Amino acid sequence: MNDLLLAGDLHEIVDAFSTTLDAKSAYTCGHSERVAEISLAIAKVLVLPESEQMRIHIGAHLHDIGKIGIPDCILNKPGKLNDIEYEMMKTHPTIGYHIVSKIRVLKPMADIVRHHHERMDGKGYPDGLKSDEISLASRIVAIADTFDAMTSQRAYRKKLSIAEAIAELKHHRGTQFDAAIIDVVIDNKILEKFDF
Ligand SMILES: [Fe+2]
Ligand SMILES: [Fe+2]
Repeated sequence: MNDLLLAGDLHEIVDAFSTTLDAKSAYTCGHSERVAEISLAIAKVLVLPESEQMRIHIGAHLHDIGKIGIPDCILNKPGKLNDIEYEMMKTHPTIGYHIVSKIRVLKPMADIVRHHHERMDGKGYPDGLKSDEISLASRIVAIADTFDAMTSQRAYRKKLSIAEAIAELKHHRGTQFDAAIIDVVIDNKILEKFDF
């Protein structure tokens, strides 16, 4: 099997997964695809090896796949989650990790799925990892994920403009997000291209 065929096959698998999740939740519709595109753009500007760009792209497509295991009433709740609901929602990276780990060709992306809600200051979940303990790939996807969430319309809040979302990322530079990646992303105006 050549690499190109493998890449195409992987895309088919992750597209089918994303479609399954989109069918379950109108809020997440198109989110995985956009996070995959934004993550790839960041990986490119960081000049990561092509195989790593590919891993990040596929991992980003899959990042929220664990939401399949979250009850619809929580996933689609048109308002803020209460503490118990939020704790349940926070299990989605681990659920996703277990799903992705079971598929041999997707196993290399499992850490991206598990760690996309970790924070540089160690206050993230599920493992409370800090700075370098979080893979570069997961740090990239965390930024792309938050940016897309902020710039998408949700039932309980209005979407931010691209400039507002960038200001918000800057505000959490070094605490939530990798400061060096944020600087490169901002200097190279990567996010301005993603006005979906
Ligand atoms: Fe997530
Ligand atoms: Fe997400």
